[in-house]
This record gives sequence, C-alpha cells and structure tokens, in this order.
Amino acid sequence: DRSLLGLKDISRNEIESILDRAAYWEAQTEKVIPILSSQFVANMFFENSTRTRFSFEMAEKRLGAEVLNFAAAASSVEKGESIYDTVRTLESMGIDAGVIRMKPDGILQNLAETIKVPLINAGDGNNEHPTQALLDLYTMRKKFGELRGLKVSIIGDIRHSRVARSNLWALQKFGAQVSFCAPESMAAPELEQHAPYISMDEALQSDVVMMLRVQLERHATGILKSGNEYREQYGLTEARASKLSKNTMIMHPAPVNRNVEIDDAVVESAQSFIFSQMSNGVPIRMAVMERALRK
Ligand code: CP
Repeated sequence: DRSLLGLKDISRNEIESILDRAAYWEAQTEKVIPILSSQFVANMFFENSTRTRFSFEMAEKRLGAEVLNFAAAASSVEKGESIYDTVRTLESMGIDAGVIRMKPDGILQNLAETIKVPLINAGDGNNEHPTQALLDLYTMRKKFGELRGLKVSIIGDIRHSRVARSNLWALQKFGAQVSFCAPESMAAPELEQHAPYISMDEALQSDVVMMLRVQLERHATGILKSGNEYREQYGLTEARASKLSKNTMIMHPAPVNRNVEIDDAVVESAQSFIFSQMSNGVPIRMAVMERALRK
C-alpha cells in the first residue's frame, strides 16, 4: 500500500526502509532530483500548518512533482463543502496523490477506502501524525545510532497529541521505552495500558525528553488555568534543563509556546534538536512521497 495513514499498522521493516531512504535523500547535494516529474500532488490542508505543509512542498518540488496547494480558508469549504467532496473533486481532476491534514477524527480511514490515489496523513485530529514521528525517529537514530532501549519521555498535552500517539506506536516497534508525563487534565487514559505515566523528575532521567505544545485550540475552557503554573509544574525550564544529562536530547515538534512548556533559552540551547527535527522533515517527506508515487 502506497498510502501512509499512520504508524500503528505498518511494520517496523517498512518504517526502517523509510528512514533509510530519508538518509539517502539527505545525503544528496543536488537540490532537485526529478524522479516524480509529471506527477501531480495536492497538499490539502483543512487545518493550519507551517512545518508540515512547507516541508511536504519542499520534498515534492525537490523530487520534481507538480504541486497543487489547497488551503481550506480560500476554498469552497467556506461555502460548506465537505472534506470528502473536496478530496473527490481533486481526485476527479487527476491528481496522483494527496497529502491531507484535518481536524475531525475517523474520516481519514473512510476517505482512504474511497479514494483511489495514495493518501498521506499530514495530521489527523488527535489520532496520528506519522511523518512527524518518522522525522522524530530519524533525528533520534542519527544521534544514538539505534532506537532499541532508548528511554523516551513524552511530556505535556498527551490527550490532544497525534504526535505522541504516532511516536508511541513507532518507537515501541523498535524496542524503545516510552513513558508519558502530563497533568491529569491533559493525560490520555486510553494510552495507560501502552505506556506508564511518570513524574516530571523521573521523565527528566531519559535519553530523549520530548516536550509537547499545549494545544489551546483543542482545549475545552479551563484545562489550562495559567501558563505560569503549567511552566512551574511541567515546563522544561532553564533550571530543569540544567539538570539533564549532557547526552539527553531535547525535542519538540513545534510550534512552541515559548516560556510555557519550554523556556526560550532551552529552545535555542545546544541540547535542543528542535531545528534539526524541522530540517529532517524534508528528507523524510521525500522518502514518503517517493514511496507513494515512484513507478
Ligand atoms: N510539527 C507540526 O506539525 O507543525 P505544523 O503544525 O506547523 O505543521
């Protein structure tokens, strides 16, 4: 299957081959290698994005694809057209693959069963964000060589995080030890059976400390009482970061609420891989688009 809907249901071998192929693409010095020329890709974003949208576009253009960018706010979605009808419309026009991000859970699977071209999940409600987790695994593998045995703590707004879920499913396939740390209002009880919830002090004793954005746009009112209080209890403050082992990686999928879940100076510190994660998003998405479309 050339679609990529999530990492829960694909094999470790398949994930590994995407990571290996991303390493190949990262090593290429030529900016454009047009293996996907004459192939049309629609980037369909029904939810806002900077990193995912532009790194998919970079990846597609570096592979020579023809790129159609769809932004919901400037489309007939504003007149009430559904996600389903929008995707079917673009399919009718002859796209060869679609990259899609959307808010409602549970639509993607149905869409993929109806649409005949490969669909790539660029962020699916609270469910999965597979290319983010792939670039996260890639970034970890580059530093540590392998993922087996790595202690990875994912800290913050787990409940609303498709990044946490995709990382959990993928990292466990490689034998990494995933733990969560979250205030009760941001925990995801259904994940308790898959990974333990630990304290902030324990979470900081890890090879990877992955901070998550507090997703205010998905919160019911009152979940986050005060940014300052959150920072005191769950933020990666400068004081906490100074106690990390020098070998610990600090990660965050971004965008970042600076000085809420992570201090400004920590984002910019030598142990932060946040900007490497963004760079690695391009070769990962080249590998994913190649897998979707190469003849
Ligand atoms: N990390 C991530 O998905 O960022 P965007 O929402 O900007 O794409």
